[in-house]
Amino acid sequence: MRAAITCVAGYVPDDLLTNADLTEMVDTNDEWIKSRTGISQRHILKDPLKATSDMGAEAVKTLCEKRGIDPSEIDIIITATVTPDMMFPSTSNLIAQKVGATKAWGFDLSAACSGFMFALTTGTQFIQNGTYKKVVVVGADKMSSIVDYTDRTTCILFGDGAGAVLLEPSEDEENGIIDHIHYCDGEGASFLRQEGGGSLNPASHETVDKKMHFLFQDGKPVFKAAVTGMADVSYEIMERNGLTGDDVAWLVPHQANLRIIDATQRRMGVDREKVMINIQDYGNTTAATIPLCLRDWENQLKKGDNLILAAFGGGFTWGSIYLKWAYDTDS
Ligand code: COA
Repeated sequence: MRAAITCVAGYVPDDLLTNADLTEMVDTNDEWIKSRTGISQRHILKDPLKATSDMGAEAVKTLCEKRGIDPSEIDIIITATVTPDMMFPSTSNLIAQKVGATKAWGFDLSAACSGFMFALTTGTQFIQNGTYKKVVVVGADKMSSIVDYTDRTTCILFGDGAGAVLLEPSEDEENGIIDHIHYCDGEGASFLRQEGGGSLNPASHETVDKKMHFLFQDGKPVFKAAVTGMADVSYEIMERNGLTGDDVAWLVPHQANLRIIDATQRRMGVDREKVMINIQDYGNTTAATIPLCLRDWENQLKKGDNLILAAFGGGFTWGSIYLKWAYDTDS
């Protein structure tokens, strides 16, 4: 049985952090940020009493309303995030409680910017093997909670947001999630990470003084690995499924840097107008970028469209998913 995405939803907070705002905070400028990354603004969750689960819950509530289902019908919630509300209980657990998914269980999955992809593949298994009929996959991150707003090399990149999809058994044999290729390589761990707060470096005065609770990134090696990794894996999945650039209706790339997206599009031989790009409005929302793209482009997607999802992130982690879109929005 094939799993199909049957509904998408997303949530971004109202407050904006623009490039102009950042010039007041660090030594940077709009031209540098736009030309190096493609980003103009990010949405930031400013309410100190709200966290990742609140954004995830908003997305899941909208998802249920759109699909016309009661949250108690959800079998499982899988949340991809690197900014869980707390170490435990899991963000999925908190989302389930906030939306009233009283019969669901769930867990979090940590794969940084590839998190939504890994979670989508995980959720797909429960439908394919006939265990469940309603699987919710969430990608949500409150990146502002781990970004150092005195570090100009990272604070310009990230934003907050959440996206969610509903997976159900496909109505036909044709459409739904068809193939995935995922990779991880711990050799990349030193280039992009948040060292403090885990079992290796539990929170202490020293970890705070050394800024170990903030995201650290050595941008150049990450950029280099991302350009090759995301482009190669997207080409690999096309080749394995006999697809040319013309066969692909939409490339749905993780939104980390416009130049990484462009390199992937060129390698795949896909026309630029078939690439979902919203990085200018949201920045890098980590696990939320891909479901937010699906939400923003949902009205343009047609049943049977070939979509290639692609991501690269901390770990390193990377991968690609091939699916045939399963519904027309007006159906
Ligand atoms: N504003 C102005 N100048 C800045 C700046 C900023 N916000 N950040 C860095 N600079 C400066 C640097 O200090 C450097 O100056 P120097 O040459 O005097 O040392 C110069 O700009 C070039 O920096 P560099 O790091 O070479 O820029 P870059 O073209 O590699 O772009 C990133 C930096 C972070 C945008 C890029 O490396 C990147 O996108 N990396 C991968 C990000 C990513 O994908 N992360 C998540 C994985 S999912």
